[in-house]
Amino acid sequence: MGDMNNDFYHSIQLPGFDIPGNLFLAPMAGWTDKGFRSICVDHGADMCFSEMISAVALDRNNDKTLELAQKADNEKILALQLFGYEPKDIYNAIIRLELLRPDMIDLNCGCPVTKVIKTGAGAALAKQPSQIVAIVKAMREAVRDIGREIPISVKIRSGWDHNSLNYLEIGKMVEDAGADMITLHSRTRSMGYSGNANYQHLAELVSALSIPVIGSGDLFSPEDALRMFSESSCDGVMFARGAEGNPFIFEQTKQFLANGEKIDINIEEKILSALKHLEYSIKYYGEEKACREMRKHICAYTKGITNGNFLRQSVVRASTYDEYREKIDEFLRLNN
Ligand SMILES: Cc1cc2nc3c(=O)[nH]c(=O)nc-3n(C[C@H](O)[C@H](O)[C@H](O)COP(=O)(O)O)c2cc1C
Repeated sequence: MGDMNNDFYHSIQLPGFDIPGNLFLAPMAGWTDKGFRSICVDHGADMCFSEMISAVALDRNNDKTLELAQKADNEKILALQLFGYEPKDIYNAIIRLELLRPDMIDLNCGCPVTKVIKTGAGAALAKQPSQIVAIVKAMREAVRDIGREIPISVKIRSGWDHNSLNYLEIGKMVEDAGADMITLHSRTRSMGYSGNANYQHLAELVSALSIPVIGSGDLFSPEDALRMFSESSCDGVMFARGAEGNPFIFEQTKQFLANGEKIDINIEEKILSALKHLEYSIKYYGEEKACREMRKHICAYTKGITNGNFLRQSVVRASTYDEYREKIDEFLRLNN
């Protein structure tokens, strides 16, 4: 296709530091741990968000929670996402997290899960824009008290439901309150993950704000990312489900935006990346936990590939690296 002649791929300037590019890994609870982030960095992700981290749990000195916040070995940027309701909890969490020297702190205002909503956090905050403002102010205060520039961002949905779309109102309020960046997942809470993300909402938010606006929603291919960039003029995109078992989407999108060409990833490359992913996880979490956690990732890596079912069924019982290796070798022989 040749040169696409667009400037969609670029760095993002924030106070304190520049993000070198604008293709991010979205925060995904249960998925974006250090192992997965490491493999995404290897394949070109410019910045990866942690899983959402409970400010309340951090404040209670919960070491497990602090572990969620650690940087992966090959990550240059540590971008942490917090969830909570009380500004003071978020303030205390940021102060506590300073020992890890994060480069960016994001506030979750989009999680639709009942357990989170019940506490007033996540997407429930869409019903209380003034609470979001209070939290963002507390985040600013924490950064000021730390005495180091740490950019603050907020991740929102389009609204609670289709009768209460308030992304523009909330966007302007958080910008005024001092947020440095905002991400919009343009679905409502009521939609959960169903229906389609609405890139028109994103375009409106981009026009209304002067801080960088990042788009999230339905990014399953480089073409989807191109469409989001061109329909909304967003400053960056965040891959979520489209990166599950598919960390290649970052390098593919970078290439596609540059010259319209698609890098082809063959089955062997896919499976060897899965194995590398497992090696990272073992280094971080030990063999037992890594092998258990890897099962869902293997299901994602093998989705839609020939004999994928064979591998999915055989790793259900794999609990050591050697067992994975053996099944993977068998799978590769089967596919040759
Ligand atoms: C399994 C899963 C876990 C998620 N966890 C989080 C989270 O912890 N914080 C957050 O802000 N969004 C979370 N999300 C939302 C994603 O970041 C993203 O905004 C959403 O999936 C839309 O993008 P997609 O349609 O490309 O998947 C999660 C999504 C999925 C599928």
